[in-house]
Amino acid sequence: MLPTRQPILRRFWYPVFRASHLDDGQKPFRLLGEDIVVWRKPDGTLAAIADRCPHRSAKLSLGYLDETGSLVCGYHGWTFDCSGKCVRIPQRENPTATGKIAVDGYRVAERYGHIWVALGEPLTPLPEIPEANEAGFRRVDQFYEEWKIGALRLMENSFDVAHPAFVHRGTFGSTSRPLPEQMPIVTEHANGFDYYVESEVDVRGDDSADALKIAEGTTTRKRTNTWFMPFARRLGITYPNGLRHTIVTAATPMEDARTMVIQFCFRNDTEADVSTEQVIAFDRKIVDEDKLVLEGCSPDVPLAVVDGEEFHMPSDKPGLVMRRRLRELLEAHGETESRAVPA
Ligand code: FES
Ligand SMILES: [Fe+2]
Repeated sequence: MLPTRQPILRRFWYPVFRASHLDDGQKPFRLLGEDIVVWRKPDGTLAAIADRCPHRSAKLSLGYLDETGSLVCGYHGWTFDCSGKCVRIPQRENPTATGKIAVDGYRVAERYGHIWVALGEPLTPLPEIPEANEAGFRRVDQFYEEWKIGALRLMENSFDVAHPAFVHRGTFGSTSRPLPEQMPIVTEHANGFDYYVESEVDVRGDDSADALKIAEGTTTRKRTNTWFMPFARRLGITYPNGLRHTIVTAATPMEDARTMVIQFCFRNDTEADVSTEQVIAFDRKIVDEDKLVLEGCSPDVPLAVVDGEEFHMPSDKPGLVMRRRLRELLEAHGETESRAVPA
């Protein structure tokens, strides 16, 4: 699937910035092939509008915010409010006589320390992450970085229980365990699915042992993995020592082969137990292992064909459900799946 060619994907929420990114003014973002500009007014109101001035096409993100928090084009000073309406043309005798001049305005929200944007009327709510409101949990913002991959590629990988043994053989995986003991049973819900799986993982090196407070050797991860259609997931991991490490990963589609990978986690320990730097460093190695493999893949996600038939492994099940659900979503809205290569 090529996300920029599926209009229905505009009708979902995507994180685009950490909240702190807006502390020093407006910021540009490329979302689903569109340039947008996002900012926060002095009174806290958030704004997201098209990043293109209707006068002579300057990028509004290169302008500045006036004292009321409206965005002034840096070229000739046309000024736009949070909804995208032009509220001032300084060269006019009556500068506020702007008529119907406007650029597109988008929905914008702040949740989990991040700024989320929907280009169209959202079909689903923002992902619900219970740990965000659970006593005893802290949030650690881990990653905000652009990868040269398609968003579906990252999502499918997030639910692929066969990849850790190979991709993560340098951290927690082992090729001696090509699959978890039991296959995930996928439970579908209106906005995605969940599955639960237990797997044995290695704890190797002081970094991992310190980040988990588990001695080197092997341990068990109990994982509840939730997919929030189309490109976000929650991975709730519980370790035998009671540590809960819940990872939220979003693959925000910038272009078909450009994705902003945004990851934050919630943990039921404290900074004194394990520092923020340790929490980030622990997952950094794991995420880099995924990145190395995924950036080498095609941005589209073709299925293997063997002897003229699609070939699936039992562990492909969550990814196949994801594809079916996305196909159903497209069909329900009169779209067909766009592909870079024939499937
Ligand atoms: S291009 Fe923006 S005001 Fe002229
Ligand atoms: Fe992985």
